[in-house]
Amino acid sequence: MITVGFLGVGGLAELMVRGLEGSGYRLLLSPRGATVSARLAADYGCEVAASNQAMVDGADGVFVSLPAATGAEELARLRFRAGQPVLSAMAGTGLDRLQSVIGPARGAVAMMPGYANALRMGPSILCPDDGFWREFLSKVGPVHGFADETTFTAAAAFGALSGATFGWMIHLIDWFEDQGLAPETARALVAGSLRGNAEVLLKENRPLEEIAGMVATPGGITEMLLATLADRGALAAWEEGLDRVLERIGGAGKGP
Ligand SMILES: NC(=O)c1ccc[n+]([C@@H]2O[C@H](COP(=O)([O-])OP(=O)(O)OC[C@H]3O[C@@H](n4cnc5c(N)ncnc54)[C@H](OP(=O)(O)O)[C@@H]3O)[C@@H](O)[C@H]2O)c1
Repeated sequence: MITVGFLGVGGLAELMVRGLEGSGYRLLLSPRGATVSARLAADYGCEVAASNQAMVDGADGVFVSLPAATGAEELARLRFRAGQPVLSAMAGTGLDRLQSVIGPARGAVAMMPGYANALRMGPSILCPDDGFWREFLSKVGPVHGFADETTFTAAAAFGALSGATFGWMIHLIDWFEDQGLAPETARALVAGSLRGNAEVLLKENRPLEEIAGMVATPGGITEMLLATLADRGALAAWEEGLDRVLERIGGAGKGP
């Protein structure tokens, strides 16, 4: 059985562990955050190592979900085996920095939504496209491999997009509730329509413009809403926000 160690057992680790239940991996947790570790051990059969180093020594591969600001420093204190697969999910920690602190181990970087991975529906991005991690991440959603780190970093902005869509959906649910809908109806309507539309984009092999044209009657209410959003800069604000995120995570900024 393959053992994957989790270094940093907080929010992301918990969601990943939940999604990985029954996937056949043995999961070994770093000990800090005793309450979460104990719960994951009890609920999902994970094991808790005596120290971070004991976790690294006992794991085939190490999944790093430490805080982005301090994670590299902690990695530098640990000793890894030559060729040991180490995957960092820490936003903004590039391959060069990761490799510089894990010595002879084999570094890769990834990004995923988190909560959707608990439901095994969260897409992950992975660079380079390491077979050990592709297999692991595929247990919690579709995996997109990248050979080129610049493109990977641009793609990694989707981590913020993913989280921000919760804020957006909750805002919309609030509006429907303000109109008198029951909270559960508003929630089901907003989430259900977005899920349905996402399935259309994933499953219908038509150009995006054609799909957009098929759902908007000329002069109709979809056009009215889109025009209001464009007039108020709401669509452009998504680009501005993503540009800022990309800058924070070390991306190259706007393309040509
Ligand atoms: N949350 C998500 O959905 C998500 C998605 C994609 C990527 N990420 C990335 O994943 C990383 C973790 O995010 P998170 O939301 O899980 O954060 P989190 O809830 O703060 O979890 C981080 C965990 O690491 C522990 N930790 C800190 N220093 C440690 C050390 N030296 N040794 C062992 N454990 C240590 C923290 O313990 P203490 O609380 O005791 O400090 C905490 O339990 C971040 O870098 C983030 O960018 C998160």
